Amino acid sequence: MTDPTFPVLPAGFRFGAATAAYQIEGAHDRDGRGPSIWDTFSHTPGRTLGGATGDTACDHYHRYREDVALLRGLGVDSYRCSLSWSRLLPQGTGPVNREGLAFYDRLLDELLAAGISPAVTLYHWDLPQALEDRGGWRFRATAEAFAGYAALAAARFGDRVERWITLNEPFCSAFVGYAEGRHAPGAREGRGALAAAHHLLVGHGLAVRELRAAGAREVGITLNLDQIDAASRLPEDLSAVRRAEVLHNEVWTEPLLAGRYPVLEAQTWSGLADGPWRRPGDLELIGAPLDFLGVNFYRPITVAAAPHKEPDPRRRTAMDIGVTELDPYGTRHTTMGWPVVPAAFAELLCGLAARYPDLPPVWITENGSAEADTVSPDGAVHDPDRIDYLAGHLAAVAEAIAAGVDVRGYYVWSLLDNFEWARGYEQRFGLVHVDYDTLTRAPKDSYHWYRGLITAHRARTEEAAR
Ligand code: FCB
Repeated sequence: MTDPTFPVLPAGFRFGAATAAYQIEGAHDRDGRGPSIWDTFSHTPGRTLGGATGDTACDHYHRYREDVALLRGLGVDSYRCSLSWSRLLPQGTGPVNREGLAFYDRLLDELLAAGISPAVTLYHWDLPQALEDRGGWRFRATAEAFAGYAALAAARFGDRVERWITLNEPFCSAFVGYAEGRHAPGAREGRGALAAAHHLLVGHGLAVRELRAAGAREVGITLNLDQIDAASRLPEDLSAVRRAEVLHNEVWTEPLLAGRYPVLEAQTWSGLADGPWRRPGDLELIGAPLDFLGVNFYRPITVAAAPHKEPDPRRRTAMDIGVTELDPYGTRHTTMGWPVVPAAFAELLCGLAARYPDLPPVWITENGSAEADTVSPDGAVHDPDRIDYLAGHLAAVAEAIAAGVDVRGYYVWSLLDNFEWARGYEQRFGLVHVDYDTLTRAPKDSYHWYRGLITAHRARTEEAAR
């Protein structure tokens, strides 16, 4: 009898697990890797919790065989990882690091030998420091450098990669990295970060062109889209929601999926809507058709209108759009402090499909929860809250599919506990527990649950086909 907590997904739906290079690889200065902005940022005092860095992380660089064996044990169809740009091109452009190429050759071959299909993200936030030293995403030259890196990766690995993701969550790269400074490179340039946002999109468009030219199989991008609720029905709160939707979602979805800049942006950041960084032809480049859209989802947010402060142009420190975030969700929260609201996930997916009639197929490229996991004396890790989170959110995906949204697959964030950016190592998202002293891996109960779900799904699909 199958476990009643298993959500039922349609035949052909695919399951995976995800990671990112800087969060797991370690080996930050091994075999010719150049530094990225996350090396610099994490080594700057006060930037990450407890001064945590990705120097060693999960040491996946040396233990990738063990990690692929864990994936095989899990029974996933696909594994989403990212490439470290500065491991392949230590300066961002120019000389190629052969040992970097060799590492990803080994990893991809190991995955294919285990029957697991690779989905590869080119940019999961780790810009080569050499490019940041020349201005980073503030300048178009970085988008052009990204295209060169994409061409290199496609030529070398395209025979083995099923699905390419150009960027992961450009919202975070641009706004958390260049406006708020909570992430690398730690810049606090407020609305100036709109230039970074645009150049990330241009970089995406140029990379798509390179991937297509190299005959890549499936090409897409991953966005963290937010389901944004209003604190009240008051007109000022409803317009705060619209401003937040522009900032969080439409900066990305409008040019990518509708070939236009966000309609309401002039109201969102007066004066900067027609940034000089925009050039004729950019929208066509950015809006080139995609094979899929990757969506990362963790939690909804609620916003209300806040007194609007015109930023002081001499001290451009905040990205103030006159919005304040509230948390009225009377539900359980994960250790990240995020409310658990699976219904918001179905709502987000349905809303997206309604807004964009030509929406490409969707892949959920991240979803998961951080919990206070501990290893029991018998070596087990009991994480019922994570199982509950995953079951609820997969059921929400099934609901969205039943309502007509074309969702093809789902990757749990994450295979392993890992370096959770500015939050260091305290937040554990893995299906597999990592002891950071010994680097021992221990599958949690959720790992066994997910394996059971995948097995049950396959058995049901095969039976139906008979
Ligand atoms: C996402 C990131 C991913 C991970 C999760 C928790 O924003 O893409 O690397 O940190 O959040």
